[in-house]
Amino acid sequence: MPYQSDKDNPIKMVIKDYKIGFIGLGRMGREILPKINDRYRVHFVYNRSPEKYRYIDKLDTETAESPEEISKNCNLIFLSLTDTEAVKSVIFGKSGLISNLRGGTVIIDMSTISHKGSTEINEEIVKSGAHYMDCPVIGSVAAARNSSLTMVCGGDKSILEGLKPVFSTFCSKIFLMGPHGNGLKMKLINNIVMGLNMISAAIGVSLGGSAGFSPETVSEILLSGGASSKILDLKRDKIVRGDFSPEFSLEHQLKDIRYGIELMNNFALELKLVEDAENLFASACTEGFCSLDESAIYQYLRRLASVER
Ligand SMILES: NC(=O)c1ccc[n+]([C@@H]2O[C@H](COP(=O)([O-])OP(=O)(O)OC[C@H]3O[C@@H](n4cnc5c(N)ncnc54)[C@H](OP(=O)(O)O)[C@@H]3O)[C@@H](O)[C@H]2O)c1
Repeated sequence: MPYQSDKDNPIKMVIKDYKIGFIGLGRMGREILPKINDRYRVHFVYNRSPEKYRYIDKLDTETAESPEEISKNCNLIFLSLTDTEAVKSVIFGKSGLISNLRGGTVIIDMSTISHKGSTEINEEIVKSGAHYMDCPVIGSVAAARNSSLTMVCGGDKSILEGLKPVFSTFCSKIFLMGPHGNGLKMKLINNIVMGLNMISAAIGVSLGGSAGFSPETVSEILLSGGASSKILDLKRDKIVRGDFSPEFSLEHQLKDIRYGIELMNNFALELKLVEDAENLFASACTEGFCSLDESAIYQYLRRLASVER
């Protein structure tokens, strides 16, 4: 559907022309939505499980019955959902966004999903004249809380420039990586490296345990030199306290490595090390570590190390 007027053309629109909707009150969404709402009103929110509305009950945001109600009432829609299936279900499922999608509406998908899946979604959405930008975010729940996420976007430059003030309410760095799909390419590369670094740090602290050293001492020493990593710095306290309550869950890390491997295959690149990382996270998941924080891979390694040979 073509734009009805300049007012429906996202390239010419200014922020006040947008009515904002938000879908997904998971660990990230429930932190990001209030940040946007502090400066620009979020008119409607939808979450599959209504009990999560408790996280935003102090805001004046209206709750929608379905994604369809969001696309009926809003022309700037943020998504923060688990995976490709979740995004497809919200857009194309029963009472999905697609039913009321108007030309000119902008969908900002912050979910980390498969690059292939995102391309398929985009092919359908452009038919309605709406814009779908892949804008996954890098950083933890804490980074969302203190507005220091990094956003990596694929899509139209003019739309991104126009929306930067909105994104800046929860991001300190915003990159346009190129056309649609390039944001996810960068995000998946990032999460391959993060997963490998997480395993590498966990191996170090776990080996230290087998050698009779405490996690505190080993972490401090690793962090003091070339073996240091940001992920060890971020997860050190969780490892030392044995608190593996999820910030970024192990199953999400596994999902992202799998999407990353799918992407690497596109580049005709096969790396055994990344496949080994996938297998390690997958076995930990099978052994009951799925819903714990990704740093629980350390505890899983400790368990493996305790098995008598
Ligand atoms: N957590 C982090 O540190 C972090 C950092 C950067 C990026 N990310 C990425 O950001 C995204 C969200 O992460 P999160 O940690 O907020 O995840 P989460 O806590 O697991 O929340 C996932 C959200 O997706 C919804 N959802 C899942 N399946 C659905 C379906 N079939 N239909 C409709 N809604 C569905 C959930 O709804 P219900 O409430 O009904 O389950 C929930 O709102 C993920 O792609 C993740 O990889 C996370």
